[in-house]
Amino acid sequence: MKHLLRTALLATLVGVSLWTVSQGQETKVACRIIYVPTEQVVVEKMLEMAKIKKDDIVFDLGCGDGRIVCTAAKKYGCKGVGVDIDPARIKDSLETMRKFEVTKELVDIRQGDALKVKDLEKASVIMLYMLPEFMEKLEPQMKGRLKPGTRIVAHDYPFPNMEPDQVVEFQVMEGARPKFLYMWTVRGQKKQ
Ligand SMILES: C[S@@+](CC[C@H](N)C(=O)[O-])C[C@H]1O[C@@H](n2cnc3c(N)ncnc32)[C@H](O)[C@@H]1O
Repeated sequence: MKHLLRTALLATLVGVSLWTVSQGQETKVACRIIYVPTEQVVVEKMLEMAKIKKDDIVFDLGCGDGRIVCTAAKKYGCKGVGVDIDPARIKDSLETMRKFEVTKELVDIRQGDALKVKDLEKASVIMLYMLPEFMEKLEPQMKGRLKPGTRIVAHDYPFPNMEPDQVVEFQVMEGARPKFLYMWTVRGQKKQ
């Protein structure tokens, strides 16, 4: 049953090419993961699982409309970095920053490939709602680049080879598909 639910969700997330118009020219955005926002109640739960504190730096890799980093900044006063490949999502994120009244000093929104973040080592928390193929590609960076103590929380899709410290099954509302949230804490020495 869980497998069927996941397959159905995967079908909604994959297989759509996004097209945007950039400076009068049609530009194909190389993105096979469509935008599906995390429900606000799930955002709150993910932040709670990560035990966010004011001195955290929260990265959302594939940030969509930036709701996770903006909620973290607004609620906990911490810093956030949102990365998305799609320029439309960058506009949405800047709008969310205005709506949440969070400043650029707290939240940094960047357009780019979330698999190529230069300063990922700065993260103390990483949030993810990405498909298995992305999770598989990102996994070596989680093992090799993060500081001990960094928490990673993933919505619905775990890393294929990392055993989570915590799995939470979360019911958004009665009758709705349950959400699965996975949490890892980076241990040991960072590999050089
Ligand atoms: C399922 S949505 C999740 C949005 C947000 N994290 C949330 O939970 O509300 C996935 C997002 O990842 C973005 N994305 C897909 N591939 C990406 C990549 N390689 N680098 C950066 N962003 C990417 C998409 O544009 C989309 O906004």
